[in-house]
Amino acid sequence: MSKTIIISNRLPLKIALEDDKLRVTPSVGGLATGLKSFHKDGDSIWIGWSGLTEEEIPDHLEDEVKEKAKAEDCVAVNLTEEEVDGFYYGFSNRTIWPLFHYFMEYTEAEYNFWETYKQVNIKYAKEVLKYYEEGDRVWVHDYQLLLVPKLIRDEEPEAIIGFFNHIPFPSYEVFRTLPWRESVLEGMLGADLIGFHTYDYERHFLSSVSRILRHQVDFNEITLPERIVKVDSFPMGIDYKKFEEAALNHFRGSEDEQSELQRRLDLHLEATPDAKLILSIDRLDYTKGIANRIRAFEYFLEKFPEFIEKVRLVMLAVPSRSNVPQYQRLKREIDELVGRINGKFSTVSWTPIWYFYRSMPFDNLIDLYTSCDIALLTPIRDGMNLVAKEYIATRTDHTGVLILSEMAGAAHEMNEALIINPNNFEQIALTLKEAINMPKEEQIERNKILQKRLKRYDVEKWAKDFMSALINTEDNRRAFESI
Ligand code: ADP
Ligand code: G6P
Repeated sequence: MSKTIIISNRLPLKIALEDDKLRVTPSVGGLATGLKSFHKDGDSIWIGWSGLTEEEIPDHLEDEVKEKAKAEDCVAVNLTEEEVDGFYYGFSNRTIWPLFHYFMEYTEAEYNFWETYKQVNIKYAKEVLKYYEEGDRVWVHDYQLLLVPKLIRDEEPEAIIGFFNHIPFPSYEVFRTLPWRESVLEGMLGADLIGFHTYDYERHFLSSVSRILRHQVDFNEITLPERIVKVDSFPMGIDYKKFEEAALNHFRGSEDEQSELQRRLDLHLEATPDAKLILSIDRLDYTKGIANRIRAFEYFLEKFPEFIEKVRLVMLAVPSRSNVPQYQRLKREIDELVGRINGKFSTVSWTPIWYFYRSMPFDNLIDLYTSCDIALLTPIRDGMNLVAKEYIATRTDHTGVLILSEMAGAAHEMNEALIINPNNFEQIALTLKEAINMPKEEQIERNKILQKRLKRYDVEKWAKDFMSALINTEDNRRAFESI
């Protein structure tokens, strides 16, 4: 029976070494959390990196790493320290990530990074070929593996290959600055179907293909000499039921079962019953607009001092890519900003910002989603932003206000949220005021519409739509061959 081979840089499980023992935690990030539900229910294997370098895994634990991965139908690819440096911290996260998010000043065009990126893409493709059998579908994910579709195609010309990009695809004017632009596009074009979160990213990609490679592009089809490649948008959804049910069950826990975080949140509510909690959750990443958000919150407190002691920003930043200098700098900037603002506005009984720099278990995420009156998500650029969707899914009584940046892919599907420009502090301050004062009926009305939409277009539907479109490309191929 044919299977689906999922391949992404990171597996949905992250393995770490603690006191000579392996510790497994779920991976953070939209790709892993979203795709996990599809993988769990289907007939698929998932190939990716465990998070440990080859040098870090002691000989006696090598088999255990494989077993831990296998228990979740995963295959762990081993990367050396050098590969992780050049491929993951290097080309993926110091070249492609900033460029595709329009941070051109952060983009490094380093030849050695590119060389390692190519080698590691070959390594991943080889791993896929080990498991590939005729009739299988191969689904390659994200910007770390842009060359993999072509590498597989070169060895298995008849394979059915899909590629999904989880981050934005930048406009031609930005993409064309990449020294290896042709190879990157050719790598992606090894796929039969290429998916993006939004129509804009799709359009930018098509425009780059037509202007850089000069291939014929008709609507959303690219004609290569030997095949047709289809390009389409598939906005990724969430596992709606999982979040809704977690939120419903969450309130049933006895006091003993309550998490420390939940107790702290409850104490806050007892002490200041009218105060509003404003939530933000992101990986600590410069694309997420965390520093902007804190500055906008400061501006809000200055402009509307009547809200002092009446609001609190609860900020969870999950450590991410901490070997990349820009991330280290951002961490310092945020520490300083939080310290300065808490110093400036705190009173004896109140601090304006609660800041957590750590990863939290799923239950704690649910605590935060369900306890906060407002979610303030202000990315400067974001492929999708699943946190916005998760917040809405957990609001089982339909209350809560989502303030969302227009620069997030999710904003296209979430018009009933309060949409802001993350660079406009004046607008953010006014929108925060509007959110705090929004009548419950209006919150309910907006959220019911959003919930209905998110429930219908959940992650299962997203994966199914992509897969059926991929299978349909076979018809395209037959039609092309008969010409
Ligand atoms: P990105 O993919 O850029 O990180 P998204 O908002 O699309 O941004 O996805 C973030 C994902 O990571 C969400 O599904 C969220 O639930 C998950 N997440 C965030 N914080 C944690 C955490 N502490 N532990 C586990 N998952 C987390
Ligand atoms: C985004 C990317 C994913 C990545 C995730 C976490 O969601 O699209 O490919 O896995 O961030 O980043 P990390 O570098 O920890 O894998």
